[in-house]
Amino acid sequence: MSTASARMRAIRFRPTIPRVRPSPRLQPARQASTATNARSTATRTKNFLYGTALTLTLSLGYLYVTDTRASIHEWLVVPALRQLYPDGEDAHHAGTAIIKALYSFGLHPRERGSPDAAGDLEVEVFGHILSNPIGTSAGLDKGAEIPTPMFEVGAGLVEVGAVTTVPQEGNPKPRVFRIPSQNALINRYGFNSEGAELVAMRLRQRVREFAYHAGLGMDENAERIVLDGEAGVPPGSLKAGRLMAVQIAKNKTTSEQDMEAVKRDYTKCVEYLGKYSDIIVVNVSSPNTPGLRALQNVEPLTALLSSVVQAVKKVDRKTKPAIMVKVSPDEDSDEQISGICEAVWESGVDGVIVGNTTKKRPDPIPKGYLLTEREANVLTEQGGYSGPQTFERTLNLVSRYRKTLDDGPKMVSEQPASREAKSELPLAGHATGDEPDPSILEKLEPTKSASEIVDSVKASLFGASTPSSATTRQRKVIFATGGITNGKQAREILDAGASVAQVYTALIYGGVGTVSRIKEEMREEAKKAVGR
Ligand SMILES: Cc1cc2nc3c(=O)[nH]c(=O)nc-3n(C[C@H](O)[C@H](O)[C@H](O)COP(=O)(O)O)c2cc1C
Ligand SMILES: *[C@@H]1O[C@H](CO)[C@@H](O)[C@H](O)[C@H]1NC(C)=O
Ligand SMILES: *[C@@H]1O[C@H](CO)[C@@H](O)[C@H](O)[C@H]1NC(C)=O
Ligand SMILES: *[C@@H]1O[C@H](CO)[C@@H](O)[C@H](O)[C@H]1NC(C)=O
Repeated sequence: MSTASARMRAIRFRPTIPRVRPSPRLQPARQASTATNARSTATRTKNFLYGTALTLTLSLGYLYVTDTRASIHEWLVVPALRQLYPDGEDAHHAGTAIIKALYSFGLHPRERGSPDAAGDLEVEVFGHILSNPIGTSAGLDKGAEIPTPMFEVGAGLVEVGAVTTVPQEGNPKPRVFRIPSQNALINRYGFNSEGAELVAMRLRQRVREFAYHAGLGMDENAERIVLDGEAGVPPGSLKAGRLMAVQIAKNKTTSEQDMEAVKRDYTKCVEYLGKYSDIIVVNVSSPNTPGLRALQNVEPLTALLSSVVQAVKKVDRKTKPAIMVKVSPDEDSDEQISGICEAVWESGVDGVIVGNTTKKRPDPIPKGYLLTEREANVLTEQGGYSGPQTFERTLNLVSRYRKTLDDGPKMVSEQPASREAKSELPLAGHATGDEPDPSILEKLEPTKSASEIVDSVKASLFGASTPSSATTRQRKVIFATGGITNGKQAREILDAGASVAQVYTALIYGGVGTVSRIKEEMREEAKKAVGR
């Protein structure tokens, strides 16, 4: 074996490049100990047996504890963290630190047995085949400290962030609250973030370490090779069949009304983070400025999203990241949904992440359950609520967004932005040059109602007599988040038209085995469906 490959082997389980090497002075001591060979056969045999037993126990223990399917993660680790850290945020930091440390020793929890290899859960997203449709959701890894271990627990998609333009503290603590009987949380983090520059450095380091382990070296050139896709993996996830999304947000001091400043913030974030992402996620409000009709509000949102589309086009990488907008479940009127979808079509954004925490406070489950006084008090905390109770709403929203997006653009306004607003995606085969000719609008008889006009425009463009008319364009992608806790729900969400089901709160209560469990349940559901 060559020394180079021997070295590669030795560091295979050390994802972090060792900076501190063991001192050579330690070597002679180790050699001295092996020289002690004046032992009786009996002692040697006994030691051998003990040693074997110990090794077996340790390695079985290792296999068990590092296996995401081990129930220890749900029944021991999660409650232990909760006991040790009464504050939800402290527990989260501790959990992240533990995973990060374990990962650096190769002892992190991971999914064993490659269950996804069968291909039965594959979905296509932006021209990539995702090995499975379960994703982690924004807020779990705001600083991109553990994207790789998150993939290791089985996620097909990992969303890191939100990352703000400049570092900011967020709201005062405490700002995360548990409602354990409901497996629910309330948070008002207020976008605490280490800032785009630092997170980008972390992601760059991750790419360079990947390049190093792939034998490409660790310099700028090696980084470029990986980012340009020449290492055979998506440049964000760095893992075949997986994608990494990065959520960006404006800094707190930037007023939402100051459109130019908000655009600058997003552009800065994209400049820093775009090249390390497969997908850029933008957190947006729906067009609902008081006193304006929804349609009039489409324009500012479109302008904002178009500026992100423009920034992404300039990302210094062969293939550009896709762009998705994340929308609140509280902005759920028909007007708001159609306004957002219109802005999505007009700006050329690739899809929508439907769902989030909610300002509403759902009833406890099971129905009629009485909360303890303590939990009832927690419910009065300000912030966004997340938990299994929100699932039905998410499902409903996904269906409505699916339908509205599939109806295609309304095209009641003219939108020059969209013609050039396509992001270039690897293998995605975007439809091109399919924007309407504005002159078509002029040819329509003025007596028609708005919806008739829309229909006839569509008919003239796509042949609306066929039900799948809008699919001649690139279909907009939907990811769903909010109350998804099991495989049955994940299936329902996908059936309603989402490509990925993302989880957050279920992971907090269920531990690192949650993703594997949900996928296993999805497989069970599929078997049942065949049996029916
Ligand atoms: C503590 C916490 C922090 C979150 N941070 C973000 C965030 O930074 N950006 C975001 O878009 N969503 C954030 N979310 C929302 C989650 O990504 C997710 O959409 C939401 O919790 C609903 O999904 P769930 O029911 O699986 O938790 C956060 C949620 C929680 C509980
Ligand atoms: C917000 O971000 C912008 C960059 O887009 C920066 O110029 C500005 O200084 C930031 N605001 C604060 C208060 O840091
Ligand atoms: C994110 O979106 C929400 C809801 O639409 C909005 O209230 C909030 O101000 C946005 N935050 C940032 C940092 O963009
Ligand atoms: C999503 O939820 C987070 C955390 O509750 C919140 O800070 C953010 O503003 C929400 N974004 C949207 C688009 O609703």
